[in-house]
Amino acid sequence: MKTVFSGIQPSGTLTLGNYLGAMKHFVDMQDEYHCYFCIVDQHAITVPQDRIKLRENIKSLAALYLAVGIDNQKATLFIQSEVPAHAQLGWMLQCVSYIGELERMTQFKDKSEGKEAVSASLLTYPPLMAADILLYKTDIVPVGEDQKQHLELTRDLAERFNKKYNDIFTIPEVKIPKVGARIMSLNDPSKKMSKSNPNPKSYISMLDDEGTIRKKIKSAVTDTDGEIRFNREEKPAVSNLLSIYSLCSGIAISDLEEQYKGKGYGDFKSDLAEVVVKTLQPIQERYYQLIESTELDDILDKGAENAHKVASKMVEKAERAMGLGRKKR
Ligand code: TYM
Repeated sequence: MKTVFSGIQPSGTLTLGNYLGAMKHFVDMQDEYHCYFCIVDQHAITVPQDRIKLRENIKSLAALYLAVGIDNQKATLFIQSEVPAHAQLGWMLQCVSYIGELERMTQFKDKSEGKEAVSASLLTYPPLMAADILLYKTDIVPVGEDQKQHLELTRDLAERFNKKYNDIFTIPEVKIPKVGARIMSLNDPSKKMSKSNPNPKSYISMLDDEGTIRKKIKSAVTDTDGEIRFNREEKPAVSNLLSIYSLCSGIAISDLEEQYKGKGYGDFKSDLAEVVVKTLQPIQERYYQLIESTELDDILDKGAENAHKVASKMVEKAERAMGLGRKKR
């Protein structure tokens, strides 16, 4: 059975973009693959975090993973900082990374641009992400489009390590969805939908209530030609809304174009709001039950234990390959 690994940062409430670009696909993969899903809290501290808020976000993300349908009997759900192997291998992989290739990462450029005090970890974040993946002999990494460059670097680092030291790492494949790989902001379709955008109208949070979702979709930008047609270059805003509609309803984009021929944006938007509410409401109901329950801690304890068993073996192999410590018998 092939292995799948993916991670999400606990840095605020997740958006519909995180769900449609990543989480939704995780759920579909659990039956076919051996899955690890991680709450990457060590990645979150590459930018300043309030410690109380971070703790809350970690728990909230764990509940959301389960609420969307991750089944802890099928997949291993765990917190990155509870499995020390991640930081250990992360360091080793920093030692095979070049500063130049890390500086070329677009996410590093975006996050550091114009800032005076940029943490070193913002630069060395990709080798830690590579460690997350390589520890579990991962074959497939399902992510949104924005992580593609990090995945390419992961493959480069794995190949470099294998060649230089010993052939221990599996080279992972990236899996990016055909529709929804990059859900865009509701008020600026040139930017991706992001939880770090200061304007909450630009995104739908997975925990937004019904009224808020309807208001945000109503105020989403469109264009002036009034046609409901998919064309990313000419009609980026409407195309984004069509992608969201299609993913939430399961109706193909071409069928939606047909269905809304000759109709205005008003009808389209109110139907879209309806399908988004129908998608998120059952997730929210489960979420609020889980966040109150004690089972969450048990699931995370077991997840960390499982992950540790596998990951510590790979750290040992990597240490042996690099000549660290004393040779183990
Ligand atoms: P993060 O936490 O920013 O996002 C989590 C997942 O959501 C996807 N995503 C989107 N997809 C479509 N449209 C959007 N607007 C959108 N915004 C976010 C992301 O592509 C991602 O799949 N570095 C990663 C976390 C990470 C990781 C890993 C992922 C750490 N280690 C190992 C995979 C494997 C990140 O910051 O994702």
